[in-house]
Amino acid sequence: MTMEQLEKQFNKLIEIGISLTSEHNLEKLLSTIVSEARAFTCADAGSLYIKEGDELVFMISQNDTIRNRDGADEEKKAYKKFTLPINKKNLAGYVAFTGQILNIPDAYNIPEDVEYSHKKTFDKQYNYKTVSMLMIPMTDNEGEITGVLQLINSLQNHGQAVPFKKEQEQIILSMASQAAVAINNAKLTEDIKKAHYNTIIRLAVAAEYKDEDTALHIKRMSEYSAIIAKGMGFDDKYVENIRFASPMHDIGKIGIPDRILLKPAKLDKEEWQVMMSHTTIGGDILKNPDSDIIALSRTIALSHHEKFNGKGYPFGIQGDDIPLEGRIVALADVFDALSSRRPYKEPWPLEKITNLISEERGEQFDPTVVDVFQENFEEILKVRDEFIE
Ligand code: C2E
Ligand code: SIN
Ligand code: SIN
Ligand code: FE
Repeated sequence: MTMEQLEKQFNKLIEIGISLTSEHNLEKLLSTIVSEARAFTCADAGSLYIKEGDELVFMISQNDTIRNRDGADEEKKAYKKFTLPINKKNLAGYVAFTGQILNIPDAYNIPEDVEYSHKKTFDKQYNYKTVSMLMIPMTDNEGEITGVLQLINSLQNHGQAVPFKKEQEQIILSMASQAAVAINNAKLTEDIKKAHYNTIIRLAVAAEYKDEDTALHIKRMSEYSAIIAKGMGFDDKYVENIRFASPMHDIGKIGIPDRILLKPAKLDKEEWQVMMSHTTIGGDILKNPDSDIIALSRTIALSHHEKFNGKGYPFGIQGDDIPLEGRIVALADVFDALSSRRPYKEPWPLEKITNLISEERGEQFDPTVVDVFQENFEEILKVRDEFIE
């Protein structure tokens, strides 16, 4: 390698390192790692195993030959989650067990005196010929082996598979350890998000009645809201913001006396006036938001009882003047309220609920939101059956 080539590779590695650290979505991260490592070694195929407990879980697979020959769907099919034991009998297990690199020039000519062997089932099933393989351990910053990166068939100019080069081993090894750290971070980010979500649910529950029903109600309506937002074509980030912000829609109920909130009957005029103020009380609690999610929660708290025809509260605004998030949550909230037992009402049969929603299309509810809700009704029902009391 010339000095210039070395510098180029070095810069490329740094670039990849930076892009890996900034990706917090685990799935995207794994596919970036495999595609960058393949690009670096001209590998036709690649996959990645993550260590979970005492097993390796097969996470991702890319294979240009299968994709070009049979299409992306077939390539996807070739990716089925399976696990391997961490021992010296299989290739990935061997690498995870020993921490050694395996650079195999010909998978069909593995020496007799080693303990590992190459399973030919994949090649047979997909009519593929594995020749050269480079198996690299992924070691995190604490020296723990967290996975194995597997590259297959380093291709020469004419598409012929040749052995991986010795010098590629160290480069991929360092890339793999950066990847290991990035994977740990992405997992941590996912854990933090889960903890954050649970905290939001707990706070929202504490603010309302102290029973399990409320927690389930809040989770269901936040999932319904996310399904609708996704169905409307919003990106993952926005959908997640809706999922995190919607649980606080009724936080203002903390300011409503129990004699009203828990009344097992219809509210009188004075009680209703107090009840409606849960929207503006929520707006006050969430004022001066210090994050996008809190700002969105405030908008939702204030607007989730507005009606599309302008007959809602607290402001009586209509149509597009109602923030979209409020229009989405309004439907999610009512669908769940009608499906559930309340101190003042019994659950409604499903058909009665869907009839009301259709009747209120363009009246109480945004017609587009109703359409998307109906298009995704199967998924809505799945959530309803999952978070059941
Ligand atoms: P919630 O129980 O979570 O109900 C949310 C929304 O679901 C209601 O907003 C309403 O739009 C819809 N909904 C619930 N039950 C029915 C129903 O039997 N028929 C129809 N057509 N829609 C229904 P809304 O009306 O603005 O009420 C807001 C909150 O005020 C309710 O939240 C509940 O906490 C309280 N509330 C409403 N009506 C009564 C009542 O008669 N007695 C008591 N104790 N509380 C009530
Ligand atoms: C709520 O209206 O948010 C709580 C009602 C319930 O106990 O499910
Ligand atoms: C707001 O976002 O503060 C206003 C919401 C509304 O107009 O209902
Ligand atoms: Fe409400």
